[in-house]
Amino acid sequence: LSKESQQVLSAHEWLTKLYHHLIRYTKDGKVGLDYLQERGITNEAIDTFQLGYAPNTKDFTATFLQKKGFHQQMLVKYGVLTRGQDDSVTDRFRGRVIFPIRNHLGRTVAFGARAMEGQEPKYLNSPESDMFQKGKMLYNFDLAKKYIRKQNEVVVFEGYMDVITAFQSGVQNVVATMGTAITEVQAKLLRRYAETVVICYDGDNAGVEATYKAAKLLEEIGCQVKIASLKDNLDPDSYINRFGGEAFKREVIGASKTFMSFYMQYLKKDFNLSLEGDRLQYLEEVLKEIANLDSSVEREFYVKELSTEYNISMESLLGEIEQHRQKLG
Ligand code: UTP
Ligand code: MN
Ligand code: MN
Ligand code: MN
Ligand code: MN
Repeated sequence: LSKESQQVLSAHEWLTKLYHHLIRYTKDGKVGLDYLQERGITNEAIDTFQLGYAPNTKDFTATFLQKKGFHQQMLVKYGVLTRGQDDSVTDRFRGRVIFPIRNHLGRTVAFGARAMEGQEPKYLNSPESDMFQKGKMLYNFDLAKKYIRKQNEVVVFEGYMDVITAFQSGVQNVVATMGTAITEVQAKLLRRYAETVVICYDGDNAGVEATYKAAKLLEEIGCQVKIASLKDNLDPDSYINRFGGEAFKREVIGASKTFMSFYMQYLKKDFNLSLEGDRLQYLEEVLKEIANLDSSVEREFYVKELSTEYNISMESLLGEIEQHRQKLG
């Protein structure tokens, strides 16, 4: 490690401890603690994830780190401090709940910082740097990996809160992509540790779109993909808060679908299936995708569903698929 990298890690470690201490034991951090408790986060989880609170002052963090001898320029570069227009330097995450982002060795390399209700942006993250590239890591991978290995399965969420709520309720093979777009690096990392990847993104539009993209990429890389869908505007964190971890395992993960089942539903959004022409086009698209399946049993399985739903004979649907397969070679 370069000298600067060591300094960066050291500064992040100090801040993780400081913010965590403030939220757990001080009056200054009480607003953050109240916030997390209101969202059902236990003290144990606060300790496990080293959650913290950055006080709402201009230079508490700056002063603290300066006393420790860290260079201001480095702290600005890695985004714990902000340089204002008048060249003054202020705390970047002030007034926010802090989520230390740990690398695979458990060392904090960045922070996610959540605003109290109402402020924007909702999450402020450390900027990309040589120490932190969001698309190259997964939140909570360090703690989850032994559970992922053991179960040969990993559940992928969007956010910090999804991971923490799941983990504290006994679902521990969980990581987050920290936003929605999964990258090839993340997909390959998952593949190395588990055969099955359960995608469990938010039930909103953005989440569904991201699910489709993630599923495609993960299948290409050779993962067995399962898709756990949540109703409407629920996300995993709100689901687990309402129904608990056991229900989540049983009703959400347990009821997860194959990519093809998901796709058959997903594709409907592009068509008005009460129109004959749209119905035919929809079927054409779905059949094309089914033709890609290697297993004839699987192909027949989905064709049967379509045959029933659209009242078309198995023979003609399978015939159409055969044509596509011949084109595929
Ligand atoms: P969501 O918008 O789904 O938030 O973003 P959330 O995780 O459900 O947060 P809560 O429950 O309202 O607190 C999912 C993830 O996307 C990243 C964060 O990693 C977040 O956890 N994100 C979201 C950002 O980086 N910045 C944002 O402004 C929003
Ligand atoms: Mn979301
Ligand atoms: Mn969410
Ligand atoms: Mn949420
Ligand atoms: Mn055709």
